[in-house]
Amino acid sequence: MKPEAWAEELRRRANKKKEALHRQLSQPLTFIQKAIVDGASTLYFDVFRQRPKIDQESAALAREKFGRYFPATVEEMLVELLNDPNAYAQKVEEYEKTCPPVPVEFPTNPAHYRLITRDPSRQIQEVLTQLALLSNFPSQDGKYYALDIGTGYGRLARKIEGTLKGLFNGKRDFKVFGMDISESNIEDAKKLNEETVSEIVFFVRDMNKVPFPSNTFNLVNTTDASYLNFRHRRPFYIAEIARVLVPEDGRGCITNPNEKTTLKEYNYLMMRSNYKTYMNPLNIMRSTVLGRCSIHIDGLVRGRPDWEITGTRDMANTLKRALKAEIVDTCDWPEKGGPAIYSEFTFAVNNKTKKALLKYMDFREGQRESENWFNIERGQ
Ligand SMILES: C[S@@+](CC[C@H](N)C(=O)[O-])C[C@H]1O[C@@H](n2cnc3c(N)ncnc32)[C@H](O)[C@@H]1O
Repeated sequence: MKPEAWAEELRRRANKKKEALHRQLSQPLTFIQKAIVDGASTLYFDVFRQRPKIDQESAALAREKFGRYFPATVEEMLVELLNDPNAYAQKVEEYEKTCPPVPVEFPTNPAHYRLITRDPSRQIQEVLTQLALLSNFPSQDGKYYALDIGTGYGRLARKIEGTLKGLFNGKRDFKVFGMDISESNIEDAKKLNEETVSEIVFFVRDMNKVPFPSNTFNLVNTTDASYLNFRHRRPFYIAEIARVLVPEDGRGCITNPNEKTTLKEYNYLMMRSNYKTYMNPLNIMRSTVLGRCSIHIDGLVRGRPDWEITGTRDMANTLKRALKAEIVDTCDWPEKGGPAIYSEFTFAVNNKTKKALLKYMDFREGQRESENWFNIERGQ
C-alpha cells in the first residue's frame, strides 16, 4: 500500500478508536464507584488527616508577588515575550529570585506508570497524537522529524515511532526525539529502547529550552506535561514549539488537564472508565506512588499562582491570537457524565507565526552555543 493510502487508512482507524474511547469515557458514575472514591478521600484527608506538604509561607509570598510581575493570561505573557524576549526573561529571573519555583518530580517508571496509561483517558491521548501526525503526513520534502516533550518513559514518542515505521515501510527518512527534565524517566526510556529495538533519541532537557535549530520538526507533541511547567515559563515553552516547527504546515499537539480538573473528578473519571483495574489490590498499591504525586500537584495548583493551570480559552487564544497559529483539532473529555477535565489542541504554524517569532528566534540563536544544540539539519 502507498504511504498516502496507508495514512488514510490509519486516520480512519484512529478516528473510529477516538469515538469508541469518547463513548467509554462518557459512561455515568455508578453509586458504588462514587462511594469508593468518596470513601477513600474521606479516609485519607479527614480520618488520617493527610495534607499535601506545601510551604504555606512561600505560597503566600508567590500570591502576593505574581500579579505584580505578570499579566493575568498566558496569552498576554506570550505577547510580552515575543515583543521583548530579553525584558521578559529578565522579569522571570527577578520574580524567581524572590519566589523560587517549586518543582515536582513526576516518576513515570513503567512498573507503576503503566497502570494509568491503560486508562481510556490516556489511551485517547495516544490516538490524538497519532491523528496530529497523520494530519500533515506526508511532508513536502518526504522526511518526517518529530519531538515528544515531557516524554516520561517515552509513551507518546513510541506511538509516533510505531506509526512512522509503518508509514515509511523500511525507509529511514524519519527521526523521533524524546526529551524530559527527569534523568530517571529518561533512563527508563533508554532502557525500554534496548528492550524494544527502538531508535528514539532520548535526552534530558527543560521544555523551556529546546536544543534544536528553528524550523526542524514536522510534529512536536506534549502530553500531560506542560501543566507541570511553571505558569510564567509557559510562554517560553510555547514559543519554543513554534520556533522548532517547520513553517510549512508544522504541527503542535498539546494535551493537558484543564481548569476544571480536580482530584476528585479525576478519580471519578478513572473509576467510571476503568473500574476493574482499580479494584485489584496490587494495583491499588502500585497507584500510591502516583496518588501521592497527584495530591502534591493538586495542592500546588490550588495554592500557588505560578502553578495555576492554563485555562482552555486562554490556551486557544494563546495559539490563535498571540502565535497566529491555526487550530486544526481540539477536543475535551469526558464529553458526558461529568466535567470535561482534559483538553487537547492540535495546531498548525505558518509564515505569520514565524513573523511573530522573529525577535524571539534571534534571542534564542544568541543562546545556541552555550546550550549545545543538536547539530541536525533537516535532510542529514
Ligand atoms: C505526567 S508525566 C507524562 C509523561 C508522558 N508525556 C506521558 O503522557 O506518558 C509528565 C512528564 O513531564 C516531565 N516534565 C515536567 N516538567 C518538565 C520540564 N520543565 N521540561 C521537560 N519535562 C518536564 C516530567 O518529568 C514527566 O516525565
